[in-house]
Amino acid sequence: MYAVQKQLFPDQKTDTAKKHRSGTFVDNMKLPVHRWFRYSAGFSAEWVNALIIEIKEDKSDLLVFDPFAGSGTTLLAADYVDVKSIGIEAHPFVSKITHAKLSWSESLQNFSTKRDVILNDANEMTPESLNYPDLIHKCFNKDTLTKLDRLKRAWIKNNDESPSSSLSWLALTAVLRSTSSAGTAQWQYILPNKKKKVTSEPFEAFRNQIGLMIADMRLFQKFSKKNLGRLFQGDARKCPDVPDNCADLVITSPPYANNYDYADATRFEMSFWGEIQNWGDLHQAVRQYLIRSSSQHASKEKLILEEILQKNILKPIYNEISEVCHELAKERLLHGGKKHYHTMIAAYFYDMAKIWYEIKRICKNDAKLCFVIGDSAPYGVYVPVEKWLGKLAIAAGFKSYYFEKLRDRNIKWKNRKHRVPLHEGRLWIDT
Ligand SMILES: C[S@@+](CC[C@H](N)C(=O)[O-])C[C@H]1O[C@@H](n2cnc3c(N)ncnc32)[C@H](O)[C@@H]1O
Repeated sequence: MYAVQKQLFPDQKTDTAKKHRSGTFVDNMKLPVHRWFRYSAGFSAEWVNALIIEIKEDKSDLLVFDPFAGSGTTLLAADYVDVKSIGIEAHPFVSKITHAKLSWSESLQNFSTKRDVILNDANEMTPESLNYPDLIHKCFNKDTLTKLDRLKRAWIKNNDESPSSSLSWLALTAVLRSTSSAGTAQWQYILPNKKKKVTSEPFEAFRNQIGLMIADMRLFQKFSKKNLGRLFQGDARKCPDVPDNCADLVITSPPYANNYDYADATRFEMSFWGEIQNWGDLHQAVRQYLIRSSSQHASKEKLILEEILQKNILKPIYNEISEVCHELAKERLLHGGKKHYHTMIAAYFYDMAKIWYEIKRICKNDAKLCFVIGDSAPYGVYVPVEKWLGKLAIAAGFKSYYFEKLRDRNIKWKNRKHRVPLHEGRLWIDT
């Protein structure tokens, strides 16, 4: 066992507890670098790390690929043990966060100098009119927003596109939630009308956040000298930046077909930085680039069910998916929201079918693939996600698939008054 595991993962849990939580980000909030930004869609770094170490025992010159890199869990876990990795992330704001985390090898001196310059300039700045979207005014009191605005202007003034700039951008982004009076829902959606206690003052929070980041970087740099992880902001359905036949191991978790809106999850932070003005901007700024796993996405694109179902690439599951989507098309008429789950499910599998072909191109002949995935039941209609993904993988040229269940879940859909049991686990694919 690597010494790094003991130092970086000090809070060892029992095997069962760890297994149940390997699909979640919870434990990452105790881990250096991973904890710089809470990304509730992420999975367990400890599990990824253990898997990489296991495979590395047989293959020394390993390349790990994560087509849905998110907050960079896989890439950082690979960095921990000096393994090369490539990630793709389509969400522009999440990519920026991950890019900053991958700057952990920056000189500590440069980063602390950048912190001091920003804090000094922010201290000297006079307040200006606060031109922010309504959401931001609802989430902060005036005094707090004035201070955050000074920090933001000081950051902009000193931004030189260096790793230290990227790291200090993340530090300011990371303190927005703790300095805000707005609550956060389970999936990180911001709740401006649900007030909570403000736990920190902006200047102090920014300084503390950078203190924590520097301590983490010091620890990380003790084990690993070089950042080997490369992140491309792009689309995993077609990623020409990644060469053919290069990946030995794919560890990833794609969006689930469960209506989670990745764009909405960063609405608050993007509004602060001026990247969007209102909720309506999210589609153009983010959603259009992503796998269609939310009904917002499907309704905005005005998708036509039959057109998607007729796509050749969906042939291997045509009968099953067609039945489910038509049932959803009927079911939606019985519900107030009339959500577009019928087209969402069709588009989701259409997008994911393309992913398999692209991954097949990128993988070596003996690669190992693991997808952390959950099934779903919109409006109580069951969608056997892992079975359909497995069939689509075979159609793209993979040999076989096997699903290892990790835990039961139906938290989200329980709110919608149905009792369809759901689960989450690892879909292993053989090349
Ligand atoms: C379940 S999350 C992965 C989280 C990651 N394992 C982590 O620990 O942070 C899925 C990610 O896929 C991204 N995504 C969605 N569509 C994509 C696409 N077409 N190409 C690449 N990434 C995409 C989402 O933005 C999201 O960050």
